[in-house]
Amino acid sequence: MKHLITIADLDRAAAIELLDTSERMAATQERQMRKLPALLGSTIVNLFMEDSTRTKLSFEAAAKRLSADVIGFAAKGSSISKGESLKDTALTLRAMGADAVVVRAPSSGAAHKLAHAGWIDVPIINAGDGTHQHPTQALLDAFTLRRHLGARSASGSLDGAGLDGLHVVIVGDILHSRVARSNVQLMTMLGARVTVVAPPSLVPVGADVWPCEVSYDFDDAIAQGPDAVMMLRVQRERMLGGGYFPSAAEYTRLLQLTDARAARLPEHAIIMHPGPMNRGFEIAGGAADGPRSVIIEQVAAGVVVRMAVLFHLLASNEREGS
Ligand code: CP
Repeated sequence: MKHLITIADLDRAAAIELLDTSERMAATQERQMRKLPALLGSTIVNLFMEDSTRTKLSFEAAAKRLSADVIGFAAKGSSISKGESLKDTALTLRAMGADAVVVRAPSSGAAHKLAHAGWIDVPIINAGDGTHQHPTQALLDAFTLRRHLGARSASGSLDGAGLDGLHVVIVGDILHSRVARSNVQLMTMLGARVTVVAPPSLVPVGADVWPCEVSYDFDDAIAQGPDAVMMLRVQRERMLGGGYFPSAAEYTRLLQLTDARAARLPEHAIIMHPGPMNRGFEIAGGAADGPRSVIIEQVAAGVVVRMAVLFHLLASNEREGS
């Protein structure tokens, strides 16, 4: 693997290897071995052309904990806001000696373009591109699921295992969600059964051929006793081009994870959200903060999973090359 642009860059074995490496990274952090020398001398550029809190900060923390130097680059305040192209930005990063570029972009396909246009020949990591993919989010979600529910999966274990036999329900704005796309691909590759739940206007055209079930009824999905429910944010900023979308009142009535709905989940089921959350909209405060919620653990998983991704793309590729 030279780049990580989409979950399709991984097969099951590669995904499990990344999750196992993430576990080893977590073990170093839990043993207070905060700083590892693996990427000493490397420079990682965080090129963020769209807002982010979790992904940006956790990539920065991950790179620093592997002893890399980090250059933060936000579109706001840079020459991108004066109209500089992606090509000229990439050529500038190359001239600065970047060893890897983590890129978040509002347009689907920007990370792929950066990886394959020939402007810069270093690993490119997609930190979320438009409505397309967010592969490290899916990996951190799989890591969190495996930690909590690995013993319930068909393999009954953690290390070397997938998510076989688990049932995950993903609820909300599937249409605009790169998190949903990446998670459906990764979770089903790892053996989970996935149900996406949304009103018809928030289900993408073509979702009927995704490797998952599509439901319009959240209460029915809860009645099936899922192992995990992942709530998604409604992406109002991507709804400006028109179309029919449910009103806020309709949305919360049909799709909010209320305290009452959370109480109907099986006792072992976990509640997930990639963040940022709209509290009181897609998720009630009680469900977000309750004992089943693993939302803050997902954030912590983001650091160790991104350490594993950087390690595989930079340190282990270098080792193979030599
Ligand atoms: N989950 C996620 O991508 O969050 P940020 O937009 O804060 O990075």
